[in-house]
Amino acid sequence: GLVNSREMFGKAMKGGYAVPAYNFNNMEQLQAIINACVECNSPVILQISKGARQYANQTLLRYMVPGAVAMAREAGSNIPIALNLDHGDSYELAKSCVDFGFSNVMIDGSSLPYDENVDLTKKVVEYAHAHNVTVEGELGVLAGIEEHVSSEVTHYTRPEEVEDFVTKTGVDSLAISIGTSHGAYKFKVKPGESVPPLRFDILEEVERRLPGFPIVLHGASSVLPKYVDIINQFGGQLENTAGVPEEQIKKAVKSAVCKVNIDSDGRLVMTAMIRKYMSEHPKEFDPRKYLGPARDELTKMYIAKCELLGSDGKA
Ligand code: G3H
Ligand code: 13P
Ligand code: NA
Ligand code: ZN
Repeated sequence: GLVNSREMFGKAMKGGYAVPAYNFNNMEQLQAIINACVECNSPVILQISKGARQYANQTLLRYMVPGAVAMAREAGSNIPIALNLDHGDSYELAKSCVDFGFSNVMIDGSSLPYDENVDLTKKVVEYAHAHNVTVEGELGVLAGIEEHVSSEVTHYTRPEEVEDFVTKTGVDSLAISIGTSHGAYKFKVKPGESVPPLRFDILEEVERRLPGFPIVLHGASSVLPKYVDIINQFGGQLENTAGVPEEQIKKAVKSAVCKVNIDSDGRLVMTAMIRKYMSEHPKEFDPRKYLGPARDELTKMYIAKCELLGSDGKA
């Protein structure tokens, strides 16, 4: 079955690595995630966003997960697998996911006034913990679109709030804002310009105030140029994309960062491989012909990502 985040994060904290949290919306993404993590023996957190629930139907997605777990076990693998609600925005939604068998839920009250974030998160924690489900909260707002909240600028996490928040709410992990954002345009940079470094000073101050407490990094895709280039080579128009450089992710996972969220890098891989296949095989019309290679490349990218996060071989 599924596991919650407690033991996963305990081991990641001690081992100086982070558990990957990969979003999925369809069968091919789920297959790639499981195949990759089985192959490199990595713990994994499967994530379902609000957008995923709307796109694929939450009941269908939920029932795909036991199938994915069974597939891993059939392959002889015992990797820990968690199922997380990504960016839950209400108590009712978080509760329904707990009732539905998720093993971790994120309640993102980061855009609310502080006291309301505390109240909402605390309420979710009380319900979730009574059902052995762990909870991720968030302090600070990432720039860009964060579940219907769009912010022009980053509101960095205020380290002076973290102890109070964690104590009052009882959350098991905390997402913080240190300069990342969601999507493929994380930083406003011109071609050739390097992206500004993440605010490791904030991360360090958070760690100092919350020793041994699991921290979560959202918006952590590197927006891999290899796939952006393939997309553009085959008719795409992605300009001035910018992600978090891999060296910075490598540095971050050695700290209290125990969970790293990746969605965009997977989207880019699928789009790149499908564009390439379509362009090179104009007579094909069987979706398996283009989804298959996309899934296989996605598997490779997830394995490389697990290696970057240091989670390979840690299951
Ligand atoms: O939080 C952002 C994730 O990449 C999910 O995005 O809401 O479009 O599925 P989504
Ligand atoms: P990316 O857009 O960088 O992949 O971030 C995903 C994320 O934070 C999901 O919660
Ligand atoms: Na870590
Ligand atoms: Zn996120």
